Amino acid sequence: MSTVDDVDLGRRRFLTATATVVGGVGVAFVAVPFLKSWSPSERAQAAGAPVEADISKLEEGALMTVEWRGKPVWLLKRSQKMLDDLASLKNNLLDPNSEMASQQPKYAQNATRSIKPEVLVMVGICTHLGCSPTFRPEIAPADLGPNWKGGFFCPCHGSLFDLAGRVYKGVPAPSNMEVPAYRYLSDTRVLIGVNPETA
Ligand code: FES
Repeated sequence: MSTVDDVDLGRRRFLTATATVVGGVGVAFVAVPFLKSWSPSERAQAAGAPVEADISKLEEGALMTVEWRGKPVWLLKRSQKMLDDLASLKNNLLDPNSEMASQQPKYAQNATRSIKPEVLVMVGICTHLGCSPTFRPEIAPADLGPNWKGGFFCPCHGSLFDLAGRVYKGVPAPSNMEVPAYRYLSDTRVLIGVNPETA
């Protein structure tokens, strides 16, 4: 059975241990504000600080998501077949040549809507009422029909986009999905929210 003395002894041990830990934390407190001053604050992130994406592990045909300005930004590594199929869809698309200037920077106003053809960088939000479309890379799945060459399907009201985010004709979405400003820091690092230095 424990006594008051036992408890006091235990408490003293606890206090000693706590003091030691606090000493350690004290050191950490010195370092943290220093580090913080070098990284963007959360408020700055929300306001639109650039976000870096590491695509070194992104495999062909795969899609990854990073968050920028509170929105999902997709990075899709397209295969040569996916790129070849883009050219065959023109007649089905509302803005096949990306003429609506608000939907991509000038340097992405090209056949693949990207800086490097194989990597699509795009805000993952439907241009109808803002749902997030689903990635549907399959060829001719039963629910999307025999002419489907892969793309994005918005489950909210059925808008369809190809693998460059170009909207199909006859769906509720009025424009292609948005390509944000971005630039490459290296072959495997993409900075989202900043134009290339040459743009
Ligand atoms: S929000 Fe995507 S189709 Fe309406």
